[in-house]
Amino acid sequence: MNQQSGLFNHKPFERLAQLDAVEWLRTIGDGTVDLVVTDPPYESLEKHRAVGTTTRLKHWFEIFPNSRFPGLFAEIFRVLAKNSHFYMFCDQETMFVAKPMAEAAGFRFWKPIVWDKKTIGLGYHYRARCEFILFFEKGKRRLNDLGIADVIEVPRVRNSYPTEKPAAVSSVLVGQSSAIGDLVIDPFMGSGSVGDAALSLARRFAGTDTSAKAVELTRKRLGATELIR
Ligand SMILES: C[S@@+](CC[C@H](N)C(=O)[O-])C[C@H]1O[C@@H](n2cnc3c(N)ncnc32)[C@H](O)[C@@H]1O
Repeated sequence: MNQQSGLFNHKPFERLAQLDAVEWLRTIGDGTVDLVVTDPPYESLEKHRAVGTTTRLKHWFEIFPNSRFPGLFAEIFRVLAKNSHFYMFCDQETMFVAKPMAEAAGFRFWKPIVWDKKTIGLGYHYRARCEFILFFEKGKRRLNDLGIADVIEVPRVRNSYPTEKPAAVSSVLVGQSSAIGDLVIDPFMGSGSVGDAALSLARRFAGTDTSAKAVELTRKRLGATELIR
């Protein structure tokens, strides 16, 4: 399946790159990826940071401007297999921008899935307890378990990589939308939480991040990931 991209010739976690997401996706063959789960540093993050909700973070990263979404979504659509899913972590502002752009790239939008962090965070107005994950489909693929709710309850990760998502959230997405041995990718991998979920469920993983620190963290983390079944 992944002969064209060469991803098959590597151990599951060896294909980690330090490249721009779109540039990296261009190196991957058409239809060779089974699932994309990702979490771009969308531009409204800078707004949250400006009002103080994320200023506690010591390390920060470049944002990925909304104007680049059409190019990103076109590449994700191209590399995904015929009947497959694409999940993107998102906030309440970016989801309205990203949805029509992903649809223009060919995806069907199903719904936002809610990640319920179980406790309220910093902020103003109604204090944030949840985040969204946009659920898109290329072609037609059945979820593995039709009994799973669209609210995933997992506490946030503390003292971690900036905006790190719990691997337990990605485990639900990987478990629902791929099979053992499938290739899962994350073109904005950060600390490697999606890779951790993928490997622990016996999927293969490849990813990129422009930050050397992120690539190093992911390499170490995935080297230590254990299969959980
Ligand atoms: C929101 S964080 C991802 C966090 C990750 N989901 C986790 O659980 O750790 C976004 C990541 O995208 C990376 N990044 C920023 N611009 C990028 C680009 N153009 N291509 C690839 N990665 C990029 C940042 O360095 C950062 O690590």
